[in-house]
Amino acid sequence: MSELAGRTAVVTGAAGPMGLAAAHALAAAGCRVALVDLASERLESAASEVDNGVAFAADLTSPDSIPALVGRIESRLGIVGVLVNNAGVLSNTKSQATDESEWRRVLAINLDAAFFLARAVVPAMKRLRWGRIINTTSLAAKTGGLTAGTAYAVSKGALSALTFSLARELAADGVTVNGIAPAYVRTPMITEALTEAQRQALLAMIPVGRFCEPEEFAHVVRFLASPLAGFITGEIIDINGGLLMD
Ligand SMILES: NC(=O)c1ccc[n+]([C@@H]2O[C@H](COP(=O)([O-])OP(=O)(O)OC[C@H]3O[C@@H](n4cnc5c(N)ncnc54)[C@H](O)[C@@H]3O)[C@@H](O)[C@H]2O)c1
Repeated sequence: MSELAGRTAVVTGAAGPMGLAAAHALAAAGCRVALVDLASERLESAASEVDNGVAFAADLTSPDSIPALVGRIESRLGIVGVLVNNAGVLSNTKSQATDESEWRRVLAINLDAAFFLARAVVPAMKRLRWGRIINTTSLAAKTGGLTAGTAYAVSKGALSALTFSLARELAADGVTVNGIAPAYVRTPMITEALTEAQRQALLAMIPVGRFCEPEEFAHVVRFLASPLAGFITGEIIDINGGLLMD
């Protein structure tokens, strides 16, 4: 089924496992996909795997460059109908050890980039009277961070609030805005940033008894982007294996 045939999607953080899985899922749904990431070498190889995928290397922490990036994407692939704000950095540093540069760095990519990208793509979505914005938040937004640090938890909490705010503002324009809150997806964030003892302690707490696969995240992205999800907006879908039930 190519339910998104003819649409253009942008996936940020697409050189990472979750972004790449989302790019594959949206391509399978019929989208032309702009893969955006800072890591240009990994990005080129990721984009080469994705049908109709094109790499756009960019540092999303520089707001002034975002309109030009969106312009380049639109002139190559057409008006952006689906934006997946997935680029992010993990920081496990708790408050007392968080200095100003770390605070600014984490907020700049995890929160500010999503805002400036959304702001750049929304005018065309409104003209089309159709759009999907999907933000990758985190369980940390609700828990304060089981293993994640202060700036990370705050960035994801604010990204949830941005999701609600944009959803309310854009609902009447045919644009839905939703979030996905994963916890412990099997990526280098988990396999490298945690100790073996932390991994085992987490596995014991996750009722399904395993970590999430990137493809399971991507499946939710595809669902939220699909035309049949048009009545869902301002929602954050938890995918955490039952770690938090609320
Ligand atoms: N892995 C998990 O368990 C987990 C859980 C909850 C939320 N998340 C979120 O999922 C998203 C993807 O995580 P992942 O595990 O695939 O991580 P990852 O580190 O593999 O991927 C993130 C990507 O973002 C890119 N990026 C970082 N800074 C950038 C910048 N300034 N400009 C452009 N690109 C930049 C990186 O190069 C990287 O490829 C992140 O937002 C993360 O916070 C992950």
